Amino acid sequence: MSQRKILITSALPYANGPIHLGHLLEYIQTDIWSRFQKARGHECYYVCADDAHGTPIMLKAQQQGISPEQMIAQTKIEHEADFAGFAIGFDNYYSTHSDENREFASLIYQRLDKAGHIKRKTISQLYDPQKNMFLPDRFVKGDCPKCGALDQNGDSCDVCGATYSPTDVKNPRSVVSGATPVLKDSEHYFFDLPAFSQMLQDWTRSGALQEEMANKLQEWFTDGLQMWDISRDAPYFGFEIPGAPGKFFYVWLDAPIGYLASFKNYCDNNSVDFDSFWQPDSAAEVYHFIGKDIIYFHSLFWPAMLEGAGFRKPNAVFAHGFVTVNGAKMSKSRGTFIKARTYLDNLNPEYLRYYFASKLTSGITDLDLNLDDFTQKVNADLVGKVVNIASRCAGFITKRFDGKLAAELAEPALLQDFIAAGDSIAESFEKREFAKAIRDIMALADRANQYIDNKAPWVLVKDDSRQQEAHAVCSMGLNLFRVLMHYLKPVLPVMAAEVEAFLNTELSWQNYQQPLLNHAINPFKALMQRVDPLKVAAMVEASTDNLQPTTQTSAPAKAEDTKPAVKPAAAGREPLSDTISIDDFAKIDLRVAKIVSASAVEGADKLVQLQLDIGEGEIRQVFAGIKAAYTPDDLIGRSTVMVANLAPRKMRFGMSEGMVLAAGPGGSDIFILSPDEGATPGMRVK
Ligand code: MSP
Ligand code: ZN
Repeated sequence: MSQRKILITSALPYANGPIHLGHLLEYIQTDIWSRFQKARGHECYYVCADDAHGTPIMLKAQQQGISPEQMIAQTKIEHEADFAGFAIGFDNYYSTHSDENREFASLIYQRLDKAGHIKRKTISQLYDPQKNMFLPDRFVKGDCPKCGALDQNGDSCDVCGATYSPTDVKNPRSVVSGATPVLKDSEHYFFDLPAFSQMLQDWTRSGALQEEMANKLQEWFTDGLQMWDISRDAPYFGFEIPGAPGKFFYVWLDAPIGYLASFKNYCDNNSVDFDSFWQPDSAAEVYHFIGKDIIYFHSLFWPAMLEGAGFRKPNAVFAHGFVTVNGAKMSKSRGTFIKARTYLDNLNPEYLRYYFASKLTSGITDLDLNLDDFTQKVNADLVGKVVNIASRCAGFITKRFDGKLAAELAEPALLQDFIAAGDSIAESFEKREFAKAIRDIMALADRANQYIDNKAPWVLVKDDSRQQEAHAVCSMGLNLFRVLMHYLKPVLPVMAAEVEAFLNTELSWQNYQQPLLNHAINPFKALMQRVDPLKVAAMVEASTDNLQPTTQTSAPAKAEDTKPAVKPAAAGREPLSDTISIDDFAKIDLRVAKIVSASAVEGADKLVQLQLDIGEGEIRQVFAGIKAAYTPDDLIGRSTVMVANLAPRKMRFGMSEGMVLAAGPGGSDIFILSPDEGATPGMRVK
């Protein structure tokens, strides 16, 4: 096997939101592949970074009253901790807001400009006259020009599905300030993508893309490529364009350049030759793992920029599908928008690594995380099959055979089958057919368990004359287990390390063909607990956004191409609801309630736990998402209004038996209602 030089990347997550289980599909897929390549002995690096620029990040920082630099620094710490929690083994995790990235962005831009690939053109765009900024499409809202539906996005209507230009929207308003936008001219810089059309078509067909993706691209070629707008006017959080004061690189220009910057930073710190990876005739391999939503940027703009600026292009871009949970898009109200941190608070990260691996193919179909299936599969495969092999054999070795494996194999042919499967399992990993690798490994695990069932070492050990046989069978079982764990090591690095300590050997492609004979092992410790369904339920509860209407947590915003993070400002009043009858209103039982105790909830940064007196000695417990607005101590003793007949709901921290009324958009802008002087607990509000 000749040694390859391989550079691997995952897409750079935006620095304005938490890592969630959707993201993790990508980082886990990439990490498994990177660990596999390293285990095969290749010179392989896996780099990533936070994607720190753009309007949503700038506005979110403003909203929090901190600088964008402060916000991205804090987010980076959280992202890195989340990734570490899932054992994502980056060689470098960096930021696009770095000196290296500024230098590469400038260099690439200047080379493109010199070669005549940058054009300048004045365009007219919606502008927020109150905030003094141009508005990206998603920062404009208004009524659909087609069907008239109220309060639609600036570029598409959720009601009739129409897409349009933000300038066509009726009654437009700025999401940032609520002001009515005006049209304003500005000179923009464009990258001449059409000039690379032929090169891109050739590259697309060179095997650099999955077939489904190459087909998708073909549609774009047929429609004709467009010039790409790479500049944004101040105020913008990003890099100023050299020689163009007040103009900044659009976030998507410097984001993929962040791959170069992160790797450069690594090379400089570790004496690796950067150029040998990125010069045009490089023999090294470069691969980008991404979600299928960002294929346009990675398979058109990025290779064209690299080509135009004198760098090599990637060998391949590997796209994956989207994670759904229980068959539907991740949703906050269903509790399926699960953050990495919430998962880690409840469950072993290797369950998820295994589950994703068991379903991942080289294609781009979406992957459903069905939580019942997840529980069942992890328990059946990892605990019931793999760990079971070791736990049934190890104790006897330790207790009866001096902690030493036998000098000879009971059944060499069986172990030989396990070893021989290695080539095909390696090929599946190489081709990113992880599901197939896992199926093959589990089929071997079944055979190992059958072997142990048949030999029943627990019977043999009771018979003094069959001690040697018992020893041979248990040693055989552990040799089989060792080969299986060796194959699973890229998927389960943490458990593999524990197995290495237990078996007193390194699990590696260099040694896995030599059986462990006459070999001392260490006492067996439980390697993996069963998935506890209660913990899964707790994770869903902790992810459920059941605090409406008083707190809306803003969605983790993508850059300009998706929904913004900011909440509508007060000026843009929430539309009034449909008329209801007095009978409808009467169904809601509102009561005056006195707050008798209030305390912070450990592990929940938004919640306050309230005990409410609603008369006749009845005390209700309510969890309210008001911590950003109120100090618990200040609440004690005051009266408020609660919904007393709301179905109780079980939360991670206990039951919530009602809801306290409050107004405001959320965060620190929440205002609890108070009755006038004289109202007493239990009085009905009507
Ligand atoms: N910042 C850009 C990428 C720049 S790369 C030069 C971005 N960031 S992101 O945070 O929105 O997404 C990061 C990666 O996670 C993307 O590849 C995206 O496709 C992937 N995923 C985000 N949500 C996902 C799911 N629900 N399921 C699977 N992957 C998902 O895009
Ligand atoms: Zn419409």
